[in-house]
This record gives sequence, C-alpha cells and structure tokens, in this order.
Amino acid sequence: MIFGLAPMDGITDCIFRTITNEVFLRYNKNTNDELWTWTEFMNADGYMINPPRLVRHIVLNDAETKLIAQIYGWNEDTLVKTAIDIERKYPQYMGIELNIGCPSPKVMACGAWSGMLRDKKNCLGIIKSISEAINMPFSIKTRAWLNPDDKVEQFDFLVEAAQYCHAVGIHWRTYGQWHSGFVDREMIAAVKQKVGDNCKILGNGWIKTYQEHIEITAKYSLDGIMSAQAAIANPRLFVDYQPTTKDRYEIILRHMKLLAAFEIYFNDNVGPEYSNKQIIINRRKHADSNDDTKGNDLEPIDFHDYLFPMPTLVQLEEIANSFPVEELVGLRSCIEFRKYLFNYVKGIPGSKEFKNEVAQIRDYPTLFEAVDRFFLPIVT
Ligand SMILES: Cc1cc2nc3c(=O)[nH]c(=O)nc-3n(C[C@H](O)[C@H](O)[C@H](O)COP(=O)(O)O)c2cc1C
Repeated sequence: MIFGLAPMDGITDCIFRTITNEVFLRYNKNTNDELWTWTEFMNADGYMINPPRLVRHIVLNDAETKLIAQIYGWNEDTLVKTAIDIERKYPQYMGIELNIGCPSPKVMACGAWSGMLRDKKNCLGIIKSISEAINMPFSIKTRAWLNPDDKVEQFDFLVEAAQYCHAVGIHWRTYGQWHSGFVDREMIAAVKQKVGDNCKILGNGWIKTYQEHIEITAKYSLDGIMSAQAAIANPRLFVDYQPTTKDRYEIILRHMKLLAAFEIYFNDNVGPEYSNKQIIINRRKHADSNDDTKGNDLEPIDFHDYLFPMPTLVQLEEIANSFPVEELVGLRSCIEFRKYLFNYVKGIPGSKEFKNEVAQIRDYPTLFEAVDRFFLPIVT
C-alpha cells in the first residue's frame, strides 16, 4: 500500500521529508509498501515572477525518491508553464500535483485551491491541459466535496478528473468542515471502485495511527492514505515501530543539524535580496517615496533561465559537520524547529517544562544545550 506524508506548507520541507523517509526505510518490513512524500505547495504565478524566492517550497535533495512537487494557482497558462518548467529542470520528482483542496477564503476568492471546484468544467480543462503538457505522472489533491449540495457533481468530477491523473488524493471533509465533522469514506470508496486500476486513489484526513492507515485502506479498497498533522515529527506513523528515547534524541539531533545546514545552503545559493524580509523592506521604501514601481527593486529574472542547484544529502551533511554548534547563530530555522521538537518529545516525562523552556530559545547553540540537558540523563 501507499503511505503518504501529505503536503504541509512550512512543514514538509526537504529535511523533514528526509528524516521521515529514513525512518521508513529503516523500519518498514513490507516490501509492497511505499512512502510517497509531497513538497509544500508553490504558487505558479509567484514562481514566474520571482523563482528564487518561490523555489524554496519545492527544494529536494538527491536522496529523495517518490516525491511529488505540488503547485497551485488559478491561471491555466501559468500552471501549465510552471509544470513544464519543473519537469524540464528537476526530473527527479516522481510527479507534479495540482492543489485543488486548500480552504483559505482569500485564496479561494482568487479561484485557486478549493475555489477551483466552484467551476468544475474550467477546473477539468486545467487538469487536462497540465496532464497533457508533461510526461511525468500528474496528480491532484482535492476534497470529497465542496459543500453537501455538490456531492453528486463532485463524484462525477472526481471520476472524470481521474482519467487524466496518475493519482488523486482526497481529503474526506468539505472545505467548510476544516478538520471536524462527518466523514463520508463510502463516497471515496465508490470513486475508487469506478476508476479501478487506472488511477490511484488516496484517502486523507484525521488518521492518527499506523494501524488505522492499514485498516482504512483495506476497508475501503483504496490504494493508500496520506496523512499530515499526525505525521509532524512522528515518522513512526508510517511504520510499525516504537522509538526508544535514544532514537528520538538521535533523530532530533540529526534533524536540527540538517535543518541548519539546509538554511546555510539555501542562503548561499539564493541571494539575500530575494528573501521575504528584503522584499518587504524594498516595498516599504517605495511606498514611502510614492514610487509607482511598487517596490520591485529586483532585476527581473526570466524563470526559464533560473535553475536552483538542488543539494545532495552528502553536501548537506558536509555543511552540518563543518559547522560547530557554537557557530550556528543567526539562523531562523532554529525557531521553526520548535514545531517539530514539541512533537518529538510528546509523552516523555518533563516534556511540558521542556517545551516552556524551549519556547524562549532563539539560537541553535542554546537549543542544542537544552536538548542535551533534557535527554542525556534519560538516554544513558
Ligand atoms: C500546517 C498545514 C499546512 C498544509 N499545507 C498544505 C499544502 O501545502 N498543500 C496541501 O495540499 N494541503 C496542505 N495541508 C492540508 C493537509 O495536507 C491535509 O490535507 C489536512 O491537514 C488533513 O489531513 P490530516 O488530518 O492528516 O492532517 C496543510 C495542512 C496543515 C495542517
């Protein structure tokens, strides 16, 4: 069966996926099982305008296989061009996916994410165009339905869309339900029955354990399940294994070192002028001077010419090993790491106090010290 680490903006970056993959490869016992992973979503329109900044959402390393690059947008032309560009430059991806499922009202109002489902005919046209424009497998991730009234239409839409897709991931709640309420898995099972072996159907939503992945996949005859929130810093969600405290400690250290290395690598390969912070500063400067260039100080980059040098895992490990912890200062990923760390230590006695302590920490040297103080007495 297929286990999927579902896309999560700000979470499923190249390092977190690598850690999850490593645990899967080490502990998976069933040769028929696969772990698919997804990048965070990347906006296709933004990619055309400022590829160096947007590419961070889809950076991969050479050790990653079965990775799908996820894009979103509302404009057929930019979506098709982005998909073609990704395929041409980064052939290591297993596939490209269109996001038709996220629920933010602001983005939906532009016609993207779940907003695409409001005009299903147009959406099917876009799906067809992208799938015909690329040779890589193409997939979509969407919702069981938009609201209770469009259930029948959505069923037809899913079946038709599946004709153009290698896989369809379906979150079994409406966009209005967000993360709670009635789940109609029978509907997804019916889609699978109708499309047969022509397209893989992956369920998604609120699956909390390894066992549930197996049971629900079997019960509804799906190809697999993709999971998001329960997988954050919980790589054992996809394998039947209970980590020891020592395992957790070692994973945390590896995750922190690689994350710091990744930030250093990314900063070295994308100029600081393309950082979010610098773009905001430029905008403010121009807003103050009433300049109508709207703060775009950057030399426009033709996205056709822009190629990000994707790192190898060995390169990242070399960076990680060449920087002593004391030198890892001024890196913002240290703060971002908290969201993983809080989950890694879940259930360990004293983790509440540890979380409170860590919430105040803003640099890696102090964070490494705190992690050692917490774990060393209990792992030796
Ligand atoms: C923080 C966060 C970020 C997300 N980002 C994306 C995204 O980039 N692309 C996407 O298709 N879904 C995204 N999702 C939705 C998840 O992939 C998934 O569909 C949803 O969380 C339900 O699955 P779960 O119950 O296993 O978490 C995101 C969810 C969360 C919580």
